[in-house]
Amino acid sequence: MTVTGHIPVMVEEVLFWLRPRAEAIYVDCTVGCGGHTLSILEKTGGQVRIIGIDQDGEALEVARQKLIRYVQSVTLVRANFSDLTSILQGQRIKRVDGILYDLGVSSLQLDSQERGFSFRYSSPLDMRMDLREETTAAYLVNKLSALELKKIFLNFGQERWADRIARFITEERRKNTITSTTDLVQVMARAIPAGVRRKSRIHFATRVFLALRIAINRELEHLAISLDQAFELLASPGRICVISYHSLEDRIVKQKFKETGKENLKILTKKIIRPSGREIEKNPRARSAKLRVAEKICKRK
Ligand SMILES: C[S@@+](CC[C@H](N)C(=O)[O-])C[C@H]1O[C@@H](n2cnc3c(N)ncnc32)[C@H](O)[C@@H]1O
Repeated sequence: MTVTGHIPVMVEEVLFWLRPRAEAIYVDCTVGCGGHTLSILEKTGGQVRIIGIDQDGEALEVARQKLIRYVQSVTLVRANFSDLTSILQGQRIKRVDGILYDLGVSSLQLDSQERGFSFRYSSPLDMRMDLREETTAAYLVNKLSALELKKIFLNFGQERWADRIARFITEERRKNTITSTTDLVQVMARAIPAGVRRKSRIHFATRVFLALRIAINRELEHLAISLDQAFELLASPGRICVISYHSLEDRIVKQKFKETGKENLKILTKKIIRPSGREIEKNPRARSAKLRVAEKICKRK
């Protein structure tokens, strides 16, 4: 496997807000290629315990290689972060001092020419972060009704042409199965008027690809479930840092912080933290990142 890796986003900010200290326990819920976890280990000289979770086996293999020097301090777990409580129970951990989420996909996934996350490559229409799951994006595109597809494109992609794209898809699949990213892009190119495509600031397939990815991986559902568990598992005064990349994720984080905040969370980022201009210049994928941080304040430990 070529380790192209992933440039971790807002590392300095994460270290500043998470305040990792020796002898503490942290959970990196989206360990990915291990960038943030490595920075925590370096900052603390490896004197911490980190549970690194990811549902993507390929990413975990990259993380394992990257973190090899700190093998004593890190436990990597292939799982969905919506099972956070049972993952920690499995490690006999009751409370943790900090939890990090760096949501969405990694460059490893986006740049893969086989996994179908990007319309830049011709590949099977897959988009599963966890290859043990059965449902692929091709399954959704070929099996859902036009109405169901339209709802996905609208709700998760805010796609203006959702209705037309869904109808063109269902017409196309009467003749041919849509199996690849290229098949889908071609149908979309027919559904969206040429003038609109030309004028669009972003590639015309961006929103539909994002919507399918969110749907197939049930990203928003898992996030909401996981955050509730995270708040319970945090020791007081443990901190939770969440980096999100689109408004639907961010809305869930904001709402959950607010709901839980009434009783036992102090929201530390009244104003969202954004990456610096310098970071965005170096790593354009950081441009939509938003960091929110809260601290557990209830008495129970
Ligand atoms: C943006 S990347 C994280 C990159 C990582 N912070 C680094 O520095 O390399 C997001 C990762 O989260 C994983 N992921 C997304 N949703 C997940 C979920 N519900 N459960 C477990 N892992 C998830 C993805 O597979 C991906 O590897």
